Amino acid sequence: MTESQFSQFSHSGNFRPANGNAWHAAWQSPSNIALVKYWGKKEGQLPVNASLSMTLDRAFTRTRLDAVVGDAVPGLVSVNGDPGHPFIPKMQHLLDMVTGEIPLLGKLTFTAETENSFPHSTGIASSASGISAFALCLLDIARQVTDREIPGKDWMQMVSNASRLGSGSACRSVYGGFTVWGRTDLLAGSSDAFAVALSGEVHPAMMSLCDAILIVSSEQKEVASTQGHRSMDLHPFRQGRVIQANSNLEETLRALAANDFEKLGDIAENEALSLHALLMSASPGVILLKPGTLGIIRIVRAQRKSGIPLFFTLDAGANVHLLYPRAVAADVETVIREELAAFCEEGRVIYDHCGTGPALLTVRDENQSG
Ligand code: DP6
Repeated sequence: MTESQFSQFSHSGNFRPANGNAWHAAWQSPSNIALVKYWGKKEGQLPVNASLSMTLDRAFTRTRLDAVVGDAVPGLVSVNGDPGHPFIPKMQHLLDMVTGEIPLLGKLTFTAETENSFPHSTGIASSASGISAFALCLLDIARQVTDREIPGKDWMQMVSNASRLGSGSACRSVYGGFTVWGRTDLLAGSSDAFAVALSGEVHPAMMSLCDAILIVSSEQKEVASTQGHRSMDLHPFRQGRVIQANSNLEETLRALAANDFEKLGDIAENEALSLHALLMSASPGVILLKPGTLGIIRIVRAQRKSGIPLFFTLDAGANVHLLYPRAVAADVETVIREELAAFCEEGRVIYDHCGTGPALLTVRDENQSG
């Protein structure tokens, strides 16, 4: 964590109690899909290359965090009422890292309530939305207890920085539209420590890009992404991968500015297949693609030849994200129904699109969640 990012909090020594000795924050934060992939890291949870993602809209996590100061044991004591909840270690790790910079947080006892908009059984990674929602709540409470007025832009940068410590891809979820994480000469203000939103650099038409997620397999991933990143440490193609990612980032930025969807899609496919090629050629190598994934890819490419602007990307798993402009949504939905749903588990498809980023929830919103 960069010291300067959190210094506005760390100089505060006293609590500013709201509602007695209790505080609460509630946020909704979306998932994101990388077009240029983050794959491989350096010491300190920093990426070996800059990545670029589109923030989603319908795939999100809602989290409410409550904090009290008193006699109870400090730290995160339960998630959804369960003291043994599987999310606790990752969330507590993030809390510990942030507490290193904002010591007052170390005196609080936290409980969290959290839920995803997408079913657990889809195999869709929830760490980007889950970790960023938790970081938003945590730094919101830090802001309340230390009574600091922090300009919105600086605060979002801190949230992105904190999210990164929990899960790299989560730092890109704190902004809507398209986001870059990782220092690159191609973008002023970019950093390895936090993500930055692209705004003036993106053609408005790109902001309505669609993403239909085809659920080929809901099985837990064979390899956690953290292990996958580690497999890049000694990967024979490590250097080449960095060169490729930088060049793909440059082309993607150009395509976003020029509303060149064909170019954007072409690079997204190259990135997806490169990610899986790196997984397969690691030591030990792993194949995460399923026959259904390849069946979908074949049809997507055939549809493109017949004139539908439709491309795919993949995460480190078998599910396929279809990318297409909103103008052809009806045609793509027909292709999905008639040709692609057969490759999906119980025909499952999640229709999503480019979103506007996290939202602060009021108690009323929380009651309506689900
Ligand atoms: C293939 O962010 O899940 O989705 O930092 O170890 O939590 P950790 O990894 P994670 O890696 C995501 C990898 C990816 C590509 C991407 O989202 O850029």
